[in-house]
Amino acid sequence: MSDENNSLKLVILGEGRVGKTSILQKYFYKKFDEGQKSTINPAFYEKTVSSNGKSHQLKFWDTAGQEQFNAISKLYYENAVGALIVYDVSIYETFNKVKEWVKTLQEVVGKDIVFIIAGNKFDLSNKDELEKRSPEIKEYCSKENCKHLYTSAKTGYQVDDVFDLLIKTVINKLKPGESKHKRKGKNLEISEHTEKKEKKKGGFC
Ligand code: GTP
Ligand code: MG
Repeated sequence: MSDENNSLKLVILGEGRVGKTSILQKYFYKKFDEGQKSTINPAFYEKTVSSNGKSHQLKFWDTAGQEQFNAISKLYYENAVGALIVYDVSIYETFNKVKEWVKTLQEVVGKDIVFIIAGNKFDLSNKDELEKRSPEIKEYCSKENCKHLYTSAKTGYQVDDVFDLLIKTVINKLKPGESKHKRKGKNLEISEHTEKKEKKKGGFC
């Protein structure tokens, strides 16, 4: 589905402080801030990609993960075609929240939504802990038919990969005519970054 401007909406979801804003900032601006503040007003980041000579405008919505803002963010993922769901590998309980986000997302947008899971803060991870948790994550991803990548917004580890994977999966899944484009977009190239735009409370894309 696309919005009235024919752009595709993607949302970044996850519990508070897992690194949603940081991962976006790293991807769009190649920067990382140790003192990154909690998101209060959702903001979007735009990018145009071309696939098979066709151009697609993408809007990535950064939402607030903190509980008190959940009522707002729920409205923000209406009409989304894809989601990046982030958890913090150094606080494993945040993975349980991923399952809740997926459930809610599927209830609001439908089972067809493409989503990728990012285990962020990989630079803070403990090898034994990751090995211990890995079977549960694999089982969950296989049940939900989704991909999972470890990332670090701090070092940049797999940040480009996770976004590229999300974009490719979304574009390859577009139905004919959707966003005025046909499916089968394999030759994806990222052609443009544009500025982050703040959205005040109550506004929508
Ligand atoms: P909310 O907006 O409250 O939902 O948080 P968020 O998910 O957007 O997290 P944010 O990007 O604000 O990051 C929270 C804290 O974690 C900040 O201090 C970041 O600097 C830090 N952080 C984010 N990603 C990483 C990472 O990959 N590694 C490390 N070491 N710190 C990270
Ligand atoms: Mg944030």
